[in-house]
Amino acid sequence: MSETAVTFAKENGKRFVEELKSFLRIPSISTDPERAADVRRAAEFVADELRRIGMENVRLLETSTSETVYAPSSGPAQVVAARNGHPLVYADHMHAVPVNGKPATTVLLYGHYDVQPAEPMEEWKSPPFEPSERDGNLYARGAVDDKGQMWMHVKALESLLATGGGRLPVNIRVIVEGEEEVGGEGIAAFVREHPEQLRADVALVSDSEMFAPDLPTLCVGLRGMIYTEIEARGARSDLHSGMYGGAAPNPFVALAQIIAQLKDATGRILIPHFYDRLCAPSDAELAAWKALPFDEEVYRETEVGSTVLTGEPGFSVLERTWARPTLDVHGIAGGFTGAGAKTVIPARALAKVSMRLVPKMTTAESFALYKDYVEAICPAGITLDVRLIHSGDPVVVSTDNPYVRAATSAMYKVFGKETVFVRGGGSIPIVGDFIRELGIPTLLMGFGLPDDNLHAPNEKFHLANFHRGIESIVLFLGSAAEV
Ligand code: BES
Ligand code: MN
Ligand code: MN
Repeated sequence: MSETAVTFAKENGKRFVEELKSFLRIPSISTDPERAADVRRAAEFVADELRRIGMENVRLLETSTSETVYAPSSGPAQVVAARNGHPLVYADHMHAVPVNGKPATTVLLYGHYDVQPAEPMEEWKSPPFEPSERDGNLYARGAVDDKGQMWMHVKALESLLATGGGRLPVNIRVIVEGEEEVGGEGIAAFVREHPEQLRADVALVSDSEMFAPDLPTLCVGLRGMIYTEIEARGARSDLHSGMYGGAAPNPFVALAQIIAQLKDATGRILIPHFYDRLCAPSDAELAAWKALPFDEEVYRETEVGSTVLTGEPGFSVLERTWARPTLDVHGIAGGFTGAGAKTVIPARALAKVSMRLVPKMTTAESFALYKDYVEAICPAGITLDVRLIHSGDPVVVSTDNPYVRAATSAMYKVFGKETVFVRGGGSIPIVGDFIRELGIPTLLMGFGLPDDNLHAPNEKFHLANFHRGIESIVLFLGSAAEV
């Protein structure tokens, strides 16, 4: 059954890519309220295709989310309760035949159809929402993160349904979200409130990378994150900096002073007790990472493109990005940033700061430690509002389960190589909820490449990996039936 489906996928590969291009033309940028209609259109696009290929109970599930709105001038931020979130797409197909008297395996397929903003636009060699094929790559925002990868799931299902007379080797539930890139509040609530609707034996997620070209990879750990905002307020309103400079507090200087105390020059985070719960990788895991084909110099030159690499001494790049907590500042807003000069002491300033967490740090405790520390070091005359925007738990997945073996044997057939086990420095918030609320293992079987430019200009998907991904998923679903 799986072999004929693989043949079908090969014969229809060109069409699959053309369909993916139509999907990529929809600018489903979840963070931009002006794109809400496009985001919904992308959800409909996925639902229509799931219906067309023969999936059942296909529907959009509405979500809601809380939103913070900022007053344009010096007033405080206001939390506006419950606006509409972006819809989830659900589908299932629950007719697999029991194997050897045991109930059939159910696989939950997860992906996200939302994408990051495309800016800076001028850096793109072809427009982000006009997919373009060059040198075996498909360039577009969302090509690999995650529209292209979730499309592999849909096309694997199509290949199996079309060649199996409408049957699948396992029961399938599909849940696709449109808010992953903004924290995934809606899907988290759905998993909490309706775990029975997603009941499955294993979840399959394709939203991560291969360690190197041609090297099949399972990602067995993700960092968690807390994404925060610090709003600093000084004087009642903006002031002339000549008349009041020397007397009035400046919220930008305050933010700079606070940020400068968040980590030291080596990158070690200075928040007291932040590292208390940290659980270091095992010696076996560290030894396996050492054996991976990785050259820090090549990485610096080709991936990062900086003069030096930063971070805690005594830890390798892989340890620093996979297994150490880190802190970054994403932007500082407010005040005067227009052309020329304006002599003003702004009344308020805002900084976006996030921290990546590793097992077994918790989001609630990490945020509380951070907030307490930031408030404790706040300069005189400044009031702060330290807010949590979104968060997700760090995860580690055990490699000792039969689904991992099903996945590695499927990828062996396609790539002719043994799978390497890695972690990812990024975060997929819902994976922690799958493990915690549904109690099921998650396989992170991703087919991106390190130079695919996720979240950056010229995002791409290496098309050979799109096709090999579909074949791997088809074969995985076939062997999952025997688990
Ligand atoms: N697909 C990425 C996460 C990822 C990338 C995992 C590479 C493993 C390897 C995902 O879409 C993402 O970008 N997540 C955000 C999290 C979010 C809460 C904004 C991230 O990591 O910044
Ligand atoms: Mn993603
Ligand atoms: Mn992403």
